[in-house]
Amino acid sequence: MFQVNENYLKLPGSYLFSAIGKKVSVYSQANPDKKVIRLGIGDVTQPLAPAIIEAMHQAVDEMGKAETFRGYGPDLGYGFLREEIAKKDYQDRGCQIDSDEIFVSDGAKSDCGNIQEIFSQDSRVAVCDPVYPVYVDSNVMAGRTGDYDEKAGVWSKVIYMPCTAENHFVPKPPKEERPDLIYLCNPNNPTGTTLNRDQLKVWVDYARQVGAVILYDGAYEAYISDSDVPHSIYEIPGARSCAIEFRSFSKNAGFTGVRLGFTVIPKDLKCGRVSVHGLWARRHGTKFNGAPYIVQKAAMAVYSEQGRAQLKEQVAYYMNNAKVIRDGLESGGYQVYGGVNAPYIWLKTPDGMSSWDFFDWLLERANVVGTPGSGFGPSGEGYFRLTAFGTYENTVEAIERIKGLRRP
Ligand code: MLT
Repeated sequence: MFQVNENYLKLPGSYLFSAIGKKVSVYSQANPDKKVIRLGIGDVTQPLAPAIIEAMHQAVDEMGKAETFRGYGPDLGYGFLREEIAKKDYQDRGCQIDSDEIFVSDGAKSDCGNIQEIFSQDSRVAVCDPVYPVYVDSNVMAGRTGDYDEKAGVWSKVIYMPCTAENHFVPKPPKEERPDLIYLCNPNNPTGTTLNRDQLKVWVDYARQVGAVILYDGAYEAYISDSDVPHSIYEIPGARSCAIEFRSFSKNAGFTGVRLGFTVIPKDLKCGRVSVHGLWARRHGTKFNGAPYIVQKAAMAVYSEQGRAQLKEQVAYYMNNAKVIRDGLESGGYQVYGGVNAPYIWLKTPDGMSSWDFFDWLLERANVVGTPGSGFGPSGEGYFRLTAFGTYENTVEAIERIKGLRRP
């Protein structure tokens, strides 16, 4: 009889956002007259910018002519895009990253989930708590996380680094246990808070000292407005030899439905004489046939002068929503965090309510959907996440509804 990968049986029944989606659709079916406003999953609502649409149309036309048609693309990404990324996202910021250190993919989620495959089964994983669930779940699937303690909500072999209001959401490098893989997300999902240059340097120095790799998720980089928050980990000296960076076109250019991202692995990142870059190139070449030409051409428009100006406006639109949420909730007596350099607002649930109780209360009373903090890890209990990716009108309405509720 065949056997399944039993690690999958250890996972929670469904992925956090699928579980929320199911709950909301049950509620909506039972209450068809209610207008539910979804500020749960961080999915964009604004249409693709005109410069991107134009680039896509051109690429579609190319695909329709024999002389410009393209079949399989290069598995690591087209040179034109890799060069543009290396220059505009890195070299122009003073980071020493070459185009052949960029791996274009179908999105940061898959890369963050898949990257663990190239590391030893025995690797110790450290995550911030709360954390984007993909980092932990993908290591559970790989059998690296030990047993789940239902009561504490933790995996026995994972090193959790609490990030709460008490430590200003800044994780501390573990002292007693020594991680091999450290996941950091900056600006942070879910808390919407950031590490500044000095705080990130602590991590780069630590990783180099203990021989760990930092898996750095920079998906929300476009939302940074403070000058002391780094746009890339490679702004920190020494990061080339200890860090892998993931980036996405989902949140800066609205590609959540289009799909495109990239991973940066500097050639200096080595385990003894083995190049991590080489391993990922081998994996990518074996398991991935390259992102679509049309989408990679669309991404080129993200870096054009026109595209940049249009996307700046789009980011400003979402950050205005963030301000509406922050200011509105603060004036309603809530304690709020994040939402300044990130499109997520992290709020303390009122009167000690649990995250899921607050979720149900908000859904039933205000018909507003958010994400319960405990879904991101035990230190997320008592917190709640709202996204700024809704439309302006829905955001204003949702906050008015929340403010209008009598606090539980
Ligand atoms: C989130 O809501 O945390 C994100 O949208 C999920 C994702 O990017 O995969």
